[in-house]
Amino acid sequence: MPALVLLGAQWGDEGKGKATDLLGGSVDYVVRYQGGNNAGHTVVVGDQKYALHLLPSGILSPGCTPVIGNGVVVDPSVLLSELSGLNERGVDTSKLLISGNAHIITPYNVTVDKVTERFLGKRKIGTTGRGIGPTYADKINRVGIRVQDLYDESILHQKVEAALDVKNQVLTKLYNRRAITADQVVEELLGYAEQIKPYVADTVLILNQALEDDKVVLFEGGQGTLLDIDHGTYPFVTSSNPTAGGACTGAGVGPTKISRVIGILKAYTTRVGAGPFPTELFDEDGEALRRIGGERGVTTGRDRRCGWFDAVIARYATRVNGLTDFFLTKLDVLTGWEQIPVCVAYEIDGKRVEELPYSQTDFHHAKPVYETLPGWSEDISKAKSFSDLPKNAQNYVKALEEMSGAPISAIGVGPGRDETIEINSFL
Ligand code: IMP
Repeated sequence: MPALVLLGAQWGDEGKGKATDLLGGSVDYVVRYQGGNNAGHTVVVGDQKYALHLLPSGILSPGCTPVIGNGVVVDPSVLLSELSGLNERGVDTSKLLISGNAHIITPYNVTVDKVTERFLGKRKIGTTGRGIGPTYADKINRVGIRVQDLYDESILHQKVEAALDVKNQVLTKLYNRRAITADQVVEELLGYAEQIKPYVADTVLILNQALEDDKVVLFEGGQGTLLDIDHGTYPFVTSSNPTAGGACTGAGVGPTKISRVIGILKAYTTRVGAGPFPTELFDEDGEALRRIGGERGVTTGRDRRCGWFDAVIARYATRVNGLTDFFLTKLDVLTGWEQIPVCVAYEIDGKRVEELPYSQTDFHHAKPVYETLPGWSEDISKAKSFSDLPKNAQNYVKALEEMSGAPISAIGVGPGRDETIEINSFL
């Protein structure tokens, strides 16, 4: 019953696609359990580069069944265009399964996301503008539209009308926008229904049966721990639970079934959107990390904010997710620095603090306390085992492991599928 959760240990964009894809060959099911097309995975297979937003990265592994769980929010137009893009490149997508309970990102949810951000002005969250937050808000408010609703026109119409009732008041009276009619939304959604139908399934039943049959199931988190609605840097977070518990609710699998929780950890730190980021760099080092690491959002094309590794955050991720392992990514990006600072604690209002403060105010005031580790200049992209790494790179990894509270079981030394050092097998 091997059920693994693979999730971002920082603010997302840790290189999860590469890690999931690495395991893809030996995994029977890859399941997304939260988020939507706000995620962005880049997967490099041979000389081909794939940018996925909504689809689980297991879609690129022929033996694997990709699953969109009930906790995901699905924009049908994005889903269909991502599928046809892959089909045009010869990728077979016929095994995809989509939960009938997953919620649909409707056109009005996208509109509300964008106008709300504009309205917030300086206080905006810096969302991806894909309608994620408003769709989850509708879910919680019990006015959401689910995938299964596409197959009952009269129910769909009633639900869209109910959802638009209040929204149109807000759009017209507060935001000065035109009202959206239920008819136009229903017509658009029904236009997708037949194309999506072959994929719709009772994914909860299928996944639990798969686990009973000893299949390997990998739960793939979008975004990252610090973007979690409960455990992240609220309010500068996404509207779902990327943390390990989210895999249970977002896929309908009990916590007793999860055997391993792997945190993907970048060898430095990045973040997109607004919100506190203690180790952020505003100098040439930050610029260099961005340039060498290719730190530009796969989904939004926005430059990512860059900074040194933050061990306080890594320790926090270990705790709230119950991490059993880390997959350290992008170690090669640090090649060439003579000295590499690592944040080991914070200074908050003159006091040294070892753990992430729960108070938003304190976190906003947190200043990094750095320890500096010696760097390396040798090319590490061909390293196949830990001992192939230069001594200083080995020491950097060991220091991160010690500070972060879980073993580093794999290390990414380049973007390609085979540019990974495996230390402990995940299976
Ligand atoms: P939303 O998920 O579009 O609502 O955006 C909320 C916050 O999460 C913003 O700061 C986004 O930049 C951030 N965010 C959403 N998805 C990702 C991701 O996949 N990687 C990194 N940041 C993300």
